[in-house]
Amino acid sequence: MLGLRKRSKPAGEVSVSRREETKFRDVRIFLVERKMGRSRRSFLTQLARSKGFTVEDFLSETVTHVVSEDRQPSSLWPWLKASSLRNLSMKQVLDISWFTDSMRDGRPVPVETRHLIQDSWTEVSSPAPAMVSQYACKRRTETENHNKMFTDAFEVLAENYEFSEMEGPCLAFRRAASVLKSLPSAVESLRAAQDLPCLGEHTKAVMEEILRCGRSFEVEKILSDERFQTLKLFTSVFGVGPKTAEKWHRRGLRSFSEVLAEPSIHLNRMQQSGFLHYGDISRAVSKAEARAVGNIIDEAVRAITPDAMLTLTGGFRRGKEFGHDVDLIVTAAEPGREQNLLSEIIDSLKKQGILLFCEYQASTFDTTKLPSHRFEAMDHFAKCFLILRLEGSRVDEGLHSAEGDSRNWRAVRVDLVSPPADHFAFTLLGWTGSRQFERDLRRFARLERRMLLDNHALFDKTKKEFLTATTEKDIFDHLGLEYIEPWQRNA
Ligand code: UTP
Ligand code: MN
Repeated sequence: MLGLRKRSKPAGEVSVSRREETKFRDVRIFLVERKMGRSRRSFLTQLARSKGFTVEDFLSETVTHVVSEDRQPSSLWPWLKASSLRNLSMKQVLDISWFTDSMRDGRPVPVETRHLIQDSWTEVSSPAPAMVSQYACKRRTETENHNKMFTDAFEVLAENYEFSEMEGPCLAFRRAASVLKSLPSAVESLRAAQDLPCLGEHTKAVMEEILRCGRSFEVEKILSDERFQTLKLFTSVFGVGPKTAEKWHRRGLRSFSEVLAEPSIHLNRMQQSGFLHYGDISRAVSKAEARAVGNIIDEAVRAITPDAMLTLTGGFRRGKEFGHDVDLIVTAAEPGREQNLLSEIIDSLKKQGILLFCEYQASTFDTTKLPSHRFEAMDHFAKCFLILRLEGSRVDEGLHSAEGDSRNWRAVRVDLVSPPADHFAFTLLGWTGSRQFERDLRRFARLERRMLLDNHALFDKTKKEFLTATTEKDIFDHLGLEYIEPWQRNA
């Protein structure tokens, strides 16, 4: 017993210290000796490890990047296939130029087509599926979802865990849904899903049931569960979060009329407006309506400062046809001007008689207090959450109204944020979403790059400095990520 412990301890220590030096955990390199030669291979291995890269001595399932000096697919690929690895199609097979570029930059550079050594046989027969990353910010996810059958089920499970405050399983199902959304076609068998990241046992069991029976009994049970239904109903009200919904449910309340009739419940201003405009703001906002709202705000802004700029962000910037609100960023060219801009816009909307609700949060952003290590999800820029009255006459394609509704207006939820101009790129990236895309950008920055990213800034913990950016592309470049267009961020 003692002897065993003594022998196993040093081995444990070695692996721990090696893991500490490893910087890029999603990259595990294997260098092919053929043509490279043993001594050069050993030199390159040392070099890469000294820069924090993981280099595997053997070609195994865990390798993600196979690097070869031999550019001939006809000799490299038969050798790779002879290795009989199960997940060969998931590996990047790369020219040495990817490796030297990565050494030069001190981080794995994004894989480009010129780096790839493609199997000439599979290229003509069927293109090898590209490796699916565990990070949403390394996947391209357009609005079309080929796996809705699974992702809708996962969303119910995630929401149910959220209501029970079980963050772990909730995130796991959201991550799994996000992976499936990025696929170019529907998953038709469990086999097809076996090499995908982020799919755990529970997830796979749900998928198997859906594949076999067309539905998941666990999901159906949740959907028919009274508590789930009530919490879902309550949280659909603007201003009511899971905590409040839970509190009302615990008090035995089951419907809106019960909540509204309960004398001991004091609704805040946001919740009152939420109930008042419930029918309108729980109905989706169309792209044409979002454009009309943009025009209204733009007119107000221009009357205040002609050089201000308004940018539509959120789901509509990602190409969605419908959304739950309209997200807009306003920036002024003149430094400091952003401080009062929103208040003036709000005044203008009030004068026009179209402001139905407004919660204004003044800026708590303070550059003199940077670097702040408390990188939070919410931002400190001046912002406001509004409900606006939108006239049908302002909408090109007419209002997206409920059936039988003869009013010529509807209420629309609008979010406005006003960052200083030099922080615009971070705000744009943060507010474009999707939420899962943002979550993974931050996780990727922290775990793979030792950087902190939020809606204000990007901080490099190694260099102990902030990295500036004027465009979203600058931020992707700092993170060593291939640029993902807004319409590819529907993770
Ligand atoms: P939304 O909740 O509006 O999501 O937030 P969405 O993608 O536009 O979806 P729909 O179409 O309206 O339903 C948009 C982005 O803004 C960020 C969120 O994290 C999300 O990525 N956001 C929102 C903030 O960063 N801060 C806020 O205060 C609000
Ligand atoms: Mn939105």
